[in-house]
Amino acid sequence: MTKICLINGDGVGKEVIPAAAEVLSALGLGLEFVEAHAGFEHFKQSGDSIPDTTLSAVAECGVALFGATSSPSTKVDGYRSPILAMRKAFDLYANLRPVQSLPGKFSRPNLDLLIVRENTEGLYVGRERLEGDTATAERVITRKGSTRIVRAAFEQARKRGLGSGIRDRGAVVTVVHKANVLKVTDGLFRECAITVAKDFPDITLKEMLVDAMAMRLVRDPENFDVIVTTNLFGDILSDEASALIGGLGVAPSANIGEKAAVFEPVHGSAPDIAGQGVANPIGAILSAAMLLDHIGQGAAAQRVRQAVNATIEQGVLPRDLGGMSTTREVTRCIVNNL
Ligand code: NAI
Ligand code: MG
Repeated sequence: MTKICLINGDGVGKEVIPAAAEVLSALGLGLEFVEAHAGFEHFKQSGDSIPDTTLSAVAECGVALFGATSSPSTKVDGYRSPILAMRKAFDLYANLRPVQSLPGKFSRPNLDLLIVRENTEGLYVGRERLEGDTATAERVITRKGSTRIVRAAFEQARKRGLGSGIRDRGAVVTVVHKANVLKVTDGLFRECAITVAKDFPDITLKEMLVDAMAMRLVRDPENFDVIVTTNLFGDILSDEASALIGGLGVAPSANIGEKAAVFEPVHGSAPDIAGQGVANPIGAILSAAMLLDHIGQGAAAQRVRQAVNATIEQGVLPRDLGGMSTTREVTRCIVNNL
């Protein structure tokens, strides 16, 4: 029996994760759910934003579905970001953010790209210091970290196989960097990509500077397959790319490590709409589909994606996609379309 850890978190996390769990249950796969807590509200009640019981529940299940948590707007002693804590505890080094066209007017057509973001290094190591009037951040790039993320990208490219458009003649991995300026850090990242590519003769390696990539994502995103890049660049490019298919409400993601994997919608806790029952559950539901792929339930994952597409084609849309339907109505329609 596969166990899935459910962590709602704060804000709309409490609305979209139960919606995704409802879709997973309706598949009839006999999945078992283990509920665990994390977030700012939990911190205010207990003094801990992510208790050890939650980390052990994730470890026990091996897979988790996470909503989002609210960050305090000023520094609060003892608070740590739950998603960063999980990425660290389980070394969730690969952040996968697929961007696939959806069958609505809000989405551009013919997109099927995957952004693979390094999740543990770069500018997110949190080594910042202020000396007098000079603030400095360290950007850490290692051979080990770069090699394993590029390898993960090539493995994803191979797994995706052939497709329509850009992928009709073979998979392409584009390594995105700024090695013309960051010669040492991104120079190392680029070198690791060239080395790893030799193990994948069936896949083409291309490279692009990050500023050019940002422009190309707007101009001709359909010409890209897998994009692999460092932590901050991946964070920015993936939010940009989500706008191509309808915005944050529909974008799914996965954080993959050797021993655990955490799946989450790209959006945050959306305090501006939380509690109103109008959050878009599609990002969370497509994250659940990625979880199904991860646990070897690829056919069920496809059923979920097709049910989402059918729901969009029927015009049952939440507010952020231009519709009037509530979280519950969208979710019920997806369940009925399974
Ligand atoms: P956000 O993603 O929560 O919201 C940005 C905009 O998108 C808002 O207008 C919101 O209403 C809309 N939106 C987001 N999710 C939606 C959904 N499912 N359906 C419809 N509309 C949706 O980002 P924001 O406002 O920058 O951050 C809010 C809080 O979330 C902050 O405390 C932030 O730190 C936290 N956050 C947490 C993340 C996580 O736990 N992984 C990731 C990003 C932000
Ligand atoms: Mg982000």
